[in-house]
Amino acid sequence: MSVHIAAKKGEIAKIVLQPGDPLRAKYIADHFLEEVKLVSQTRNIYYFTGKYKGKEISVGASGMGIPSIGIYSYELFTEFDVDTIIRIGTCGAYTSDLKLFDLLNVEFSASESTYAKFAWGIEGDLISHQGTAFGQINETAKGMDLDIKPTHIHTSDIFYRKEEGLPALAAKYNCSAVEMEAFALFANAQHLGKNAATILTVSDIIPTREQISADQREKALKPMIELALETALK
Ligand code: ADE
Repeated sequence: MSVHIAAKKGEIAKIVLQPGDPLRAKYIADHFLEEVKLVSQTRNIYYFTGKYKGKEISVGASGMGIPSIGIYSYELFTEFDVDTIIRIGTCGAYTSDLKLFDLLNVEFSASESTYAKFAWGIEGDLISHQGTAFGQINETAKGMDLDIKPTHIHTSDIFYRKEEGLPALAAKYNCSAVEMEAFALFANAQHLGKNAATILTVSDIIPTREQISADQREKALKPMIELALETALK
């Protein structure tokens, strides 16, 4: 048991898939895992452990934003001996070169956040994915005939903003999309020597304001979920 996760030691698998939304975690557990057990529901942030094609996998939410994923991923790595976290989330595209439903494998996250510096003394505003998971995702996608783009993204604390243009940091690092969590996940993994990757599905195109509708979401996220599960078998 950790401060924010009620599971007992040994109840969380070595590999965790981490969507932002607790109900997405439940959807994955209900539709893709067997022998599922709900191991934590503190603050309604559900964690489930079950089997996918015979392999033990956990799926649980990060919540939204850097502080939230900072807490959950740190506790998973340090209190439950998790080796690998694959975040599976959505992002907004900064460019209409990306299309709705595109799949991105995050190579680097750029952020204005001070999280990495003040938590771990990690300097700079760019952090890479950590360890082997990123490469395994690319390899698995190839085997599944899924198109996935290695991408630089912006991890922002801001969802709503006054300025409509590309934020300066996103321009500096040629970030093609924005989300709100990867930077803290990568910082924790770098500090602790763990594996961390982030797969994103494009859910909105910022310049054109196109977005995936609520009823398209389930279908839209299925390739990403299957890719993460198949990668977890490696
Ligand atoms: N996640 C999905 N769309 C997003 C956006 N436009 N900004 C930040 N995070 C997002």
